[in-house]
Amino acid sequence: MGFSTFKSANKLITGQAALEYLATAIAQFKIKKPLIVSDQGVVKSGTIQHVLDLLDVEYAIYDAVRPEPELEQVQDCIDFYHTHQNDAVIAVGGGSALDIAKCVAALASQNGDIHDFVGIDKIKQRDIALIVIPTTSGTGSEVTNIAILSDTKNQMKQGIVSDALLPDVAIVSPIMSVSCPASVTAASGVDALVHAIEAYISVNHSEITDGLALQAIELIVEYLPQAYALPSNLIAREKMATASLMAGLAFGNAGVGAVHALAYPLGGKYKMAHGVSNALMLPYVLKWNILGCAERLSKIAKLLKLGCSEVHTENAEKLVEFLHKFCRQLNIPAGLREFSIQEHEIPALATEAIKVERLLKNNPRQLSIQDIEAIYREAY
Ligand SMILES: NC(=O)c1ccc[n+]([C@@H]2O[C@H](COP(=O)([O-])OP(=O)(O)OC[C@H]3O[C@@H](n4cnc5c(N)ncnc54)[C@H](O)[C@@H]3O)[C@@H](O)[C@H]2O)c1
Ligand SMILES: [Fe+2]
Repeated sequence: MGFSTFKSANKLITGQAALEYLATAIAQFKIKKPLIVSDQGVVKSGTIQHVLDLLDVEYAIYDAVRPEPELEQVQDCIDFYHTHQNDAVIAVGGGSALDIAKCVAALASQNGDIHDFVGIDKIKQRDIALIVIPTTSGTGSEVTNIAILSDTKNQMKQGIVSDALLPDVAIVSPIMSVSCPASVTAASGVDALVHAIEAYISVNHSEITDGLALQAIELIVEYLPQAYALPSNLIAREKMATASLMAGLAFGNAGVGAVHALAYPLGGKYKMAHGVSNALMLPYVLKWNILGCAERLSKIAKLLKLGCSEVHTENAEKLVEFLHKFCRQLNIPAGLREFSIQEHEIPALATEAIKVERLLKNNPRQLSIQDIEAIYREAY
């Protein structure tokens, strides 16, 4: 007798001409001097120019966001916002720039240290307009109420979860991801695939998130290899932009599970890119999860025409095998040892991963610390 809620950015603008909506959004929010939050990759590739060319207001650019950014970078960016007397935030970048921008828009008008806002519902409101324009496909951050930032002290990725982080407008244009380096296309694309799969098998899934997740999975499996093979393929870029948005909507509401929980310590301690750490853990965690969600994994296998057995576990195993190959095709390394991680470090990784209760509680199989250690060993 429960109920489920569905959250999203307030307005989603998609399609090849999506950027044209920016002027409308700026007028609607009466923005006079926005802060553009971006990073060096997006600036140096010239991609930011697509946005700057459309601005007929004064603006300031903070382009110092680092990949997998630290919590402390939020304060640096808030100081920049005040110094330049900005009145709105426009994020132009991958998940890293979007997550920093979301926190800046929510916190620049409030007192307190960023560390105090880590966790669930610690930010009560946002007073500053927030427009996000993703350049990767992707994290789905454009539609989620989450920012994932690195906690350098604890060498962990931490989640800031609050509806105040949901953007006012998400403008999702395939033109913005054309300049992505192949490795970023691959890693962020697999991240989107993991979002969709984990949302589909989450204990909190709903009919709405199921529909979004399955459609996203189908699109990503078909179009990610094409976007990777030919970066200028606008059709593939557009399908991926839509798919990662849909995966974002799915996991933003159903949650992600153990793949992400086990990936967090890899990102926190070894600075592994988020998509890569997820891709590494994906097949191993799913194999372990078969016991808890064979029927759902079998449904995905059937959707991808991988399995036609009446035995769910057989189809689920075929899916796991396929995902191994899918990631190799995109040149994502297969094992932890390829990242100079020592085998004796595995218990410490498991100690960190078991703390990610926020995500582990969504997983279709309950995991003990011994289970987690065993999964890391299989993934070694
Ligand atoms: N908030 C959420 O819901 C959510 C979900 C998943 C991941 N994340 C977080 O997002 C971050 C990862 O984001 P990401 O995978 O999008 O990568 P990213 O933002 O870290 O970017 C990776 C690299 O690609 C470059 N880049 C991005 N777009 C480019 C473009 N169009 N042209 C040229 N270079 C480009 C960047 O400069 C950077 O060097 C992690 O910190 C992760 O934890 C957040
Ligand atoms: Fe993710």
